[in-house]
Amino acid sequence: MITHRPRRNRKNQIIRDLVQENSVCVNDFIFPMFLIDGKNKKSDIASMPGINRLSSDLLLREMEACIKLGIKSFVLFPNISEKLKDKKATESLNKNGLYLKTLKEVKKHFPETVIMTDVAMDPYSSDGHDGIVKNKEIINDETLEVLGNMALAQAECGADIIGPSDMMDGRVGYIREILDENNFTNVSIMSYTAKYASSFYGPFRDALESAPKFGDKKTYQMNPANSKEALLEADLDFAEGADFLMVKPALSYLDIIKSLNDNFSIPIAAYNVSGEYAMVKAGAAEGWIDGKKVRDEILLSIKRAGASVILTYFAKEWAIDHKK
Ligand code: PBG
Repeated sequence: MITHRPRRNRKNQIIRDLVQENSVCVNDFIFPMFLIDGKNKKSDIASMPGINRLSSDLLLREMEACIKLGIKSFVLFPNISEKLKDKKATESLNKNGLYLKTLKEVKKHFPETVIMTDVAMDPYSSDGHDGIVKNKEIINDETLEVLGNMALAQAECGADIIGPSDMMDGRVGYIREILDENNFTNVSIMSYTAKYASSFYGPFRDALESAPKFGDKKTYQMNPANSKEALLEADLDFAEGADFLMVKPALSYLDIIKSLNDNFSIPIAAYNVSGEYAMVKAGAAEGWIDGKKVRDEILLSIKRAGASVILTYFAKEWAIDHKK
């Protein structure tokens, strides 16, 4: 006699649906989009098939299409021309520059959408690093000032969520204080809490042309071998006032997502990064995997691990394929 037959709960689709513990829905997504200067410009990114860099006019049109599909949140990243980059990321504060100007336009056209911004120096830095560089070192505390000003400028242009992706120590508290002092108490912070020094960011750096000009990011991004350290980062970000804790990348770090979700009472986000997207696209193009099914399984696994928010380049195609 077999008393427990788990297969009874798998015997048909209706029962499988009844007992399903997790599901993905379009409300879970933040869709990352890449911006370039110009008008009516669209350039593709070889390592990210299906994703383009868009000028602001085309970006607005693409957002409209996404909104119609039910996507309500976006994060924007700028591809800044090399000649505007400098050691202090000055261009990041230019209210008439590509990023802040587009942000204002986006909020004017779509006031109801949630726009997350990126706070880090690398897209604007002539060193291609997330902080100020002196003698090949990344200087933490001087960088905070730049990040704080960047966050404030973004809030002034309508950002709903500030996303510090730089991994400097103390930046969440620093940014929270500047926002509060300037009456932006309602602007949220989604901290890139456990951001690993990962090789999965390659295609993103192609998209922004933002790869470090020397060395790597290991003095600020985390060692992929560590998990306790993620709890330390999370303790600090929570104490400093973060509203969401993010884990990045997602797939090789599902254990970290689970650990943060088990230990913290604020929502956990996961960034399903560019290299994770590229691998699925490449495998599917070769005909070696079923790209759509693998995509759906990946997104579900991120939810199951404990993320309530997923930043993913798959957002739009998922929404198309799952349209009710
Ligand atoms: C940099 C930043 C990176 C990503 C988001 N913000 C790359 C890096 O740290 O070099 C990667 C996102 C992706 O790979 O999709 N501040």
